[in-house]
Amino acid sequence: MNAAGARPARPGPDGPPAQERVVRAVHGLATIAPDPPDEIDEAEQFRREETLETLVERYHASAWIDSATGTRLRRVLLRALCRSFGDGVRIGLGVLVLHPHTFEIGAGVFIGNQTFLQGRHDGRCVIGAHTWIGPQSYFDCRDLEVGEYVGWGPGAKVLGSEHTGEPVGVPVIKTDLVIKPVRVGMGADIGVNAVLLPGVTIGEGAIVGAGAVVTRDVPAYAIAAGVPARVMRSRKPTERTA
Ligand SMILES: CC(C)(COP(=O)(O)OP(=O)(O)OC[C@H]1O[C@@H](n2cnc3c(N)ncnc32)[C@H](O)[C@@H]1OP(=O)(O)O)[C@@H](O)C(=O)NCCC(=O)NCCS
Repeated sequence: MNAAGARPARPGPDGPPAQERVVRAVHGLATIAPDPPDEIDEAEQFRREETLETLVERYHASAWIDSATGTRLRRVLLRALCRSFGDGVRIGLGVLVLHPHTFEIGAGVFIGNQTFLQGRHDGRCVIGAHTWIGPQSYFDCRDLEVGEYVGWGPGAKVLGSEHTGEPVGVPVIKTDLVIKPVRVGMGADIGVNAVLLPGVTIGEGAIVGAGAVVTRDVPAYAIAAGVPARVMRSRKPTERTA
């Protein structure tokens, strides 16, 4: 409805052409209020009184509760489970977290529906404050650091390990796993369905295009796209990129 209460005309086959419009960002500009003390107390109590196994079980039982109660429960349980957990975190439906005790989740982080965060018992995963993770994303969190204010497009994936494939002649999945750190700099933006391969660093403020497969580091403030991803240009016009 417009200000006068009248419904605006919809563009039809004979109507005006569809037009893009610019609106203010929502998630990135949000201010984060402290979580209510009762939530923090409840998480502390869970941490003191429940086993890790029980908490994980309860978290997964809460994963599909589509209500304010479910949202609160997921936040309380993950706060009890994670190494550290900021205020105002929002966890969507069906978010799976393996080895949550290896996670450090910053304030105001959003984790979209059906995202899978695959940690490792001795791994480390840091997700910086205010980062937005789109639905159906996959994170190999064996050694992953995502900076603050990162945008992670829906369905984008990061792989953090690969098999040596040696010796040849045995199934690849029987060979040793090499865990390679992946780093995503503050304020970077990862395109929908992009894939980051093990060992890459995405520089601060860089943009990775939709569907890109990133095999090499992307410099700060570069725009990289394609399969394999190549730097197209710098977001800072005065700087040259390789
Ligand atoms: C990569 C991207 C940032 C480039 O935007 P841009 O600088 O405006 O680029 P343009 O649209 O002018 O395209 C420039 C060239 O790159 C190509 N290109 C654009 N996006 C591409 C992509 N994702 N993969 C491969 N090529 C791409 C264009 O086809 C064009 O090629 P041409 O010069 O041969 O015609 C943008 O296209 C993109 O993929 N954004 C990702 C958005 C997203 O998923 N966001 C989620 C955030 S949470």
